[in-house]
Amino acid sequence: MSKSQNFQWNEMTMGVCYYPEHWPQELWAQDLERMLDAGITVIRIAEFAWNKVEPQEGVFTYEFFGQFLNLCAEKGMKVIFGTPSATPPAWLTEKYPEVLNCDEAGVPYRHGGRRHYNYNSSIYRELVARIVEQLGAHYGKHPAIAGWQIDNEINCEICEFHSEADMAAFRVFLQEKYGTLEALNEAWGTTFWNQTYTDWQQVRIPGPLLNDGYNPHQHLDYYRFISESALSFCKMQADILRRYKKEDDFITTNGIFWNMDNHRMAEESLDVYTYDSYPNFAYSVDADPLHSTDLNDRHWSKNLAEVRSVCPHFGIMEQQSGANGWTTRMEAPAPRPGQLTLWAMQSVAQGADYISFFRWRTCCIGTEIYWHGILDYDNRDNRKLAEVKEFYQKFRKLDALCGSEFTAAFGFLKDYDNEWDTNVDKWHRRIASASEKAIFEASELTHTPYDYLYLRENMTSDELSRYPVLIYPHPVIMTEARAALLGQYVEQGGTLILGCRSGYKQENGKCVMLPQPGLLQALTGSDVRDFTFTSPAEEPVYAVWTQERSDTVLQSEIRTEMPVFNDIFESADADAKVLAVYSNSYYAGKAAVMEKKTGRGRTIHLGSVFSREIVKLLLEYTGVLSPFDSVVDAPEGVEVVQRKRDGRSWLFVLNFQPVPQTILLKAPVRSVFEEGQVSGEKILAPFEVEVFEERI
Ligand code: GAL
Repeated sequence: MSKSQNFQWNEMTMGVCYYPEHWPQELWAQDLERMLDAGITVIRIAEFAWNKVEPQEGVFTYEFFGQFLNLCAEKGMKVIFGTPSATPPAWLTEKYPEVLNCDEAGVPYRHGGRRHYNYNSSIYRELVARIVEQLGAHYGKHPAIAGWQIDNEINCEICEFHSEADMAAFRVFLQEKYGTLEALNEAWGTTFWNQTYTDWQQVRIPGPLLNDGYNPHQHLDYYRFISESALSFCKMQADILRRYKKEDDFITTNGIFWNMDNHRMAEESLDVYTYDSYPNFAYSVDADPLHSTDLNDRHWSKNLAEVRSVCPHFGIMEQQSGANGWTTRMEAPAPRPGQLTLWAMQSVAQGADYISFFRWRTCCIGTEIYWHGILDYDNRDNRKLAEVKEFYQKFRKLDALCGSEFTAAFGFLKDYDNEWDTNVDKWHRRIASASEKAIFEASELTHTPYDYLYLRENMTSDELSRYPVLIYPHPVIMTEARAALLGQYVEQGGTLILGCRSGYKQENGKCVMLPQPGLLQALTGSDVRDFTFTSPAEEPVYAVWTQERSDTVLQSEIRTEMPVFNDIFESADADAKVLAVYSNSYYAGKAAVMEKKTGRGRTIHLGSVFSREIVKLLLEYTGVLSPFDSVVDAPEGVEVVQRKRDGRSWLFVLNFQPVPQTILLKAPVRSVFEEGQVSGEKILAPFEVEVFEERI
């Protein structure tokens, strides 16, 4: 088991989110019985219900959840109990207004809504610690409990903090990091625009500033600080729960959100990670048709791959079961028949062993009366409940799959420094988001799945070497340690693919006075002599890929657009080869893509942002394109991914289209749902999912 995972489900498990406090007590038993009848054996409860346990400061009442948990134990229902820190009670925010988060201007958010607190107010930490302690002490050994959820969606809704408590904690964070103001001034380049600090009290969380003239180096530390704050808030709760929970019960939280090192949080505080998957966001009523993409809900496979990078065998705490919408925003149509199953199977295909639907019944009160659950307000059996039951029958047939590994053809490298730099640097953001989208889309359309790998301090080159090819699209910030790790990976035989703008910043986001790509030049053999955004006023820029190589892929002349940004290369090394040259603009004839061999591996340096076309070409050139082609021929409209274990493989084929899709099975395989051998042409109905099992 990987370091960040202490708990794994031992069978495919189905759950639902339930709110006993939203319903008359007389409904509880009937609800639990109907859930069990549908195959639901776990419920998540209590994550917003602080008042049900502490209705007044220091006054604790345990009857409400005690009765409910006893009923669950009687019926045989397992429970994941949520800590309620996402919604502090009104008595608390009234008495201690310093617990509130503030907007950029320092104006506190009012009570109501949720996640309106900050992580650094000492009184909030005390009160949260106390209620978590009380919950642990009273319910920790209850037989119905199977796990604990910390807070709810840490850093969702808001992931920026501007309260006075945060301001003070930011200074402490910086004092610990830099020791002296001189070191801080140096790290932040404060000599620019006369920002030099002469007293720690002058140092503040950034903003609001005229014309967004933020100091990017200060901003980068601010995001690191937010991450530290969220992580220590989570750890505080986990440490308490660990003292009370039963040995086999797990601690989790439901992510993944921004400005937070989710990997470290999982390592430090959690036994298993869960995710809330709402692919129906792709069909929002307000979606701008001009900017919509043909991959729609398939983009959730990218989010699920991110979760898998934190925790290989994760769970889904909230899986879409009905239409989304608050009274104030996020309107969307109801999931079409079949989509509930499609999206739940999408999660399973990407690595989930636990699927918990959100929520049992649509709420009749509050902001979320349009965030629909399995049942509607009228509480009658409906098509969604019927689909959950059908899903369960299929899910059971996948039991052997529980705990199996996802098959990735290549790795997508990331790191938190670069991720947070894209928050503060629009140039960086533009290239990073365009490339990530293109890499994901090319991978989906060509059925070439990938894993995300976050470069972290303790990482070894062996972890990288599990992937024959790694794409690190734009490592703008580069450190010596990371460059050395990448060097080892290449030496050991790996193929590293980099895009434009690599290596021009150091870890504080300051530009380095080195020929680009800076610390990576020894690997790439490329020398960036000029660079520019492509001009919207000119023709698109193209590159022609050379024919001189023996590799079949590049034998015929290929011309690709070099989108968004162009690095214009010269060779910095006699061993470096030119793979493509620009064919127009003022740099026509100059190198656009270079390749250099080092040790047993090689580095390919692309001078632009990645497009679908370029990704496909590079995956083909490096020999990892479409790994399941020998088994199934599938059109672009379906997703094909594999999980495998102990010589068995399960190939998931998911039709995301509202129309039938035809696939061709090139060898006989076992259809898991039909329980028989199949081969040849097969038509998948709209939104249908098939799983084919093979011995490998
Ligand atoms: C999630 C959240 C749930 C519920 C749901 C629908 O983000 O965790 O509590 O609000 O969205 O809005």
